[in-house]
Amino acid sequence: MNKLTFYLSMLCCCLMLTACSENTVTEQQATTASTTEPQGLKDAADFPLGTAVNLRLLQRDTQLRQQILANLNSITAENDMKMRSIAHSRDSFNFAPADRMLAFAETNNMRLFGHALIWHSSSPDWLPALAEDPVALDNFMREYIHAYVGRYKGKVDGWDVVNEVMNTAGGEYRETLWYKALGKDYVAKAFTYAHEADPDAVLFYNDFNIERDTAKLHGALRMIEELQAQGIPISGLGFQMHTRMDIPNDVIAYTLQKGAETGLQIHLSEVDIIFNKHDDTQGGGVQVYDEITPELLDQQKEKYKELVRMYRSIVPKTQQYGITFWGVSDRYTWINGFFNLKDKPTIFDEQHQPKPAYHGVMEGVMMEVE
Ligand code: XIL
Repeated sequence: MNKLTFYLSMLCCCLMLTACSENTVTEQQATTASTTEPQGLKDAADFPLGTAVNLRLLQRDTQLRQQILANLNSITAENDMKMRSIAHSRDSFNFAPADRMLAFAETNNMRLFGHALIWHSSSPDWLPALAEDPVALDNFMREYIHAYVGRYKGKVDGWDVVNEVMNTAGGEYRETLWYKALGKDYVAKAFTYAHEADPDAVLFYNDFNIERDTAKLHGALRMIEELQAQGIPISGLGFQMHTRMDIPNDVIAYTLQKGAETGLQIHLSEVDIIFNKHDDTQGGGVQVYDEITPELLDQQKEKYKELVRMYRSIVPKTQQYGITFWGVSDRYTWINGFFNLKDKPTIFDEQHQPKPAYHGVMEGVMMEVE
């Protein structure tokens, strides 16, 4: 079968899948769906493809679940595995949400990716008081990471160990509660503790805007070099890739190249592509387009395709940890709620039907690359 025939047959299957899945799929069918469903994006790709999703939606929205199972083979908890969900107090950790994510992943032969161990934006309310004592904070970090990563040893494939270490713009460390108490060493400590708990897990530093802000990228690279020189067990770099239509492809290509030169696993960990703008703060959206026209959706298709092509051609095969979308449906994208926008940044529309962007990804994974 040539590539065009393969692609067309997958398109047909996708339409059929959507037509027959409407509210008729039982829980039992959903969990066995991966063996009976037609081929999707994951079958065309030679690297892992995933999405972030909230447990609640996974359980409630059959059609979304079906699209995920048909197209993706890696899963990340959008919120359920963050510290706020897990660490109810200094000494009581509720692993139930993570257990449920793991059960879903195992039932459906998917990779489970852990997001995120240390992230300033997901600090439980009791944490700032603890952070007044640096020794106590360090002890907590060690115990939390040991308990969490240890529990899922050999089951969670990789972790965002530290998330968003650098300032929003530029190349300096973000002055978080962790940084203020422990200095930049908190990063090295977090990787060390995670490695102690699971020596085989792939351990990532993950950040946003490093595909566009080269000062920030270079700050991140300096930190990675220092960690590597100290023998700290960092094994991956995550480009969140919440990117925008007008971010130049050649800048993205440059940053991917620089990232790949670290020798680390490269994960496009939170991909979505917006049309409108924001200032990186909650509620800071600027609605540039009143309407997202079919022409704009076609341009988005090209952007998705080019992003996948660049990933495949710039990042060496052995360093391709995969591409993870930060949600796959425009109905539930975090972008609109978080930034107060009306945008369409994902690969499926509000009805979970493939957008041109979906076909862009399909073409990107199937095309010949050098
Ligand atoms: C976002 C979720 O998508 C939202 O539902 C939540 O309200 C805030 O966090 N960078 C990250 C992700 O690393 O964890 C964020 O996820 C999006 C930005």
